[in-house]
Amino acid sequence: MKGIILAGGAGTRLYPATLTVSKQLMAVYDKPMIYYPLSVLMLAGIRDVLIISTPFDLPNFKKLLGDGKEIGMKFSYKEQAAPNGLAEAFIIGDKFIGNDSVAMILGDNIFYSAGLTGLLKQACKTKKGGHIFAVHVPDPERFGVVDFDKSGKVLSIEEKPEHPKSNYAVPGLYFFGPEVVKEAKNLKPSARGELEMPDLCRKFLNRGELKVTVLPRGLAWLDTGTHAAMNKANNYVQIMQEMTGMNIACVEEIAYRQGWIDDKRLDATIEKMGKSSYADYLRRIEREASKLEQTTDDYLHANR
Ligand code: DAU
Repeated sequence: MKGIILAGGAGTRLYPATLTVSKQLMAVYDKPMIYYPLSVLMLAGIRDVLIISTPFDLPNFKKLLGDGKEIGMKFSYKEQAAPNGLAEAFIIGDKFIGNDSVAMILGDNIFYSAGLTGLLKQACKTKKGGHIFAVHVPDPERFGVVDFDKSGKVLSIEEKPEHPKSNYAVPGLYFFGPEVVKEAKNLKPSARGELEMPDLCRKFLNRGELKVTVLPRGLAWLDTGTHAAMNKANNYVQIMQEMTGMNIACVEEIAYRQGWIDDKRLDATIEKMGKSSYADYLRRIEREASKLEQTTDDYLHANR
C-alpha cells in the first residue's frame, strides 16, 4: 500500500498566520503539523509516500522531509496547481499509485489513540473498493457526513449538508484500491468547483464497495481549522506528552521502533535537533530501547 499526504490549499481561515507559511508546516506544539498525518501512515506500515502541496509551499516540504531516508521511508513530491478539491490527489498521484492500493490523509488531520495501529492495519488490507472512517461529532454540518445502518452498511455520504442525517463526520483518511484513480478522473466538479471526496466515495458506495469503520470513543481527532482549534490542538499535545512521557507523532521514534532505522541514523537526527526537548526525547527513546533489549537478554539468559 502506498500513501498520499495532501497538504495544499490556501489556508485562508488561518490568515494572517498562513500568509507566508503553509498551514501544514506550522507547529502543533513541538513539531510541524505534517508529522501527525505522516505518523498515521507510518503506523499503518506505509513507507512509500507522495506529498502534494502548492507550487509555493512544496519546496519547504522538501526541505523539511527530504527523500525520507532519515526515517527509513521514501518520499516523492507533486504540485497541486490550484485547490481543485481533495479527490484531485488521486489524479495527481496517478503514476505514483500505479497498480497499488493507496491511503490518502489530509495534512491537517491529527489522530491519536490507543488501538489506532490495529485499525489502520485492518484498513490497509483494502485491495479493492474503499474504506473510510466515521467519528461522532457535535457539529457534523462542518464535515463530510456519513449515515449507516446498524450493520455498518453505509446509507449515504454527503459533503457539509445543511441537514445532516447523522452525527458521524468522515475524517480526512481514506483507503482505496487502485481503481480510485479512474473513478477520480470521472468525477465532475461540485457547485463550489471542487472534486469532492463524498462524490468519489459514493461511486464505491453505489457498487456496495464502501466500508466504514466507526472510530472508538476516546480517539482524538483534532481539528486545526481555526486559530482556537489550533490552540486546543497545541494544548492537547502538550498535556498528553507531559502526562505520559511519550511523544505524539515523533516520526523518528516510530521508524526506530519499527526497525526502519538503526542507532546510527537516529544519532544523526539527535545531533541535528540540537538542544531541543525533541532531541532529549529521542536520546531517551534510544537509551530505553537498549535497556529493554538488555533486560530481555538478561531474562532469556537467566531462564536458559
Ligand atoms: O477534515 C475532514 C474533512 O476534510 C472532511 O470531513 C470533508 O469531507 C472534506 O471535504 C474536508 O473538509 P474541509 O472543510 O476540512 O476541507 P478543506 O477545503 O479545508 O481542505 C482540507 C485540507 O486539504 C486543507 O488542509 C487544505 C487541503 N486542500 C484542500 C483542497 C480543497 C488541498 O490540499 N487541496 C485542495 O484542493
